[in-house]
Amino acid sequence: MFYKQKLFLKALHCFPPEIAHTVVLKAISSNFISANTDDLNISNLRTKLGNLNFNHPLGIAAGFDKNVETINVINKLGISHMEFGTITPHPQPGNSKPRIFRLSEDKAIINRLGFPSKGIDSAIKNLRNNKNKIPIGLNIGCNKNSNDFMDDYLTLTRKLGPFAEWITVNISSPNTPGLRELQIGSDLEKLLKNIDNERKKVEDKVEKILQIWVKISPDLKDDELKNLVDISVRYNIDALCISNTTTDRPHTLASKNKKEVGGLSGPPLYSQSTEILAKAYLHAKKQIKFIGIGGISNGETAYTKILAGADIIQLYTGLVFHGPKIINDIINYLNEKCINTKIKDLVGTKAESILKKE
Ligand code: FNR
Repeated sequence: MFYKQKLFLKALHCFPPEIAHTVVLKAISSNFISANTDDLNISNLRTKLGNLNFNHPLGIAAGFDKNVETINVINKLGISHMEFGTITPHPQPGNSKPRIFRLSEDKAIINRLGFPSKGIDSAIKNLRNNKNKIPIGLNIGCNKNSNDFMDDYLTLTRKLGPFAEWITVNISSPNTPGLRELQIGSDLEKLLKNIDNERKKVEDKVEKILQIWVKISPDLKDDELKNLVDISVRYNIDALCISNTTTDRPHTLASKNKKEVGGLSGPPLYSQSTEILAKAYLHAKKQIKFIGIGGISNGETAYTKILAGADIIQLYTGLVFHGPKIINDIINYLNEKCINTKIKDLVGTKAESILKKE
């Protein structure tokens, strides 16, 4: 099974990244790709985030399926949860192509997609057919030509909230001009306050809990990060997703595509995103939960995200370079680490020492 997938992966990388990705989504839908973890005894990996239960901590990050097209098949990959999106209110094409670049030597990606999205109505059509049992979240972002970003986020929360276990407010993509400023400006407080109000209206209407997560950039300065954590706690945000891609370019990058403009993901993002996660975890003093994202490429990097403060973890670029086998590999590694302990008891236990190594 994994041999077939290895060959498939090799063939895929002969195609431009965006075409390869379309083929992957089709292959998942047609059962060609799977990585079932049903047979594993992983009871010590069960974890919770508020009202939500997860069989294990690992899910797929936003961007992999922007338009909710794999909703009834994605659990075949053995993940415990899935975040779809980013979904914008109205359909938009995103930036001109090429806009995704493989950095093969670094096993990394630079993307400047700029939220290509089929919009809310298309997402809702797919969400109405949801037969999936794993918790799902919807990642939301404003349209590029929006003249009222606040209204965009509130509309998205109101219309999509009934279909999801959580909404992730994406204010950290580097590819929508001005978006990341929402993390540090005076608008942040207003945005999170209004989203919290909108969430309460959705909860009353559909009589279920709707969590709100906020996805942030790894490029924030310390004082900006602390301020963002404090405001998120004040307005009842359930979790912070740390992190999105970086505009930094570590000097270790070896691939010729390193000069492309956009957000960098994969192993070169790992240390930066894990350190900022540990910082946020220590500052928050358990008043908010964390989703660890950025450069997870094997069991050890996944495990360290949990030790740094993440209750659950997500990956994207690791799937592109290692195929779905990476999911089984990570779950097996975590399971071995948890023979005599529950994973939820390990969260944040090494946050301080991870920061000292900085
Ligand atoms: C992304 N990412 C992303 N994030 C998000 O919140 N909304 C999105 O639409 C996208 N789109 C997207 C496209 C592509 C091609 C990539 C590679 C990434 C960011 C992603 O969810 C994740 O935060 C980062 O990629 C870091 O994790 P990995 O890839 O290093 O595991």
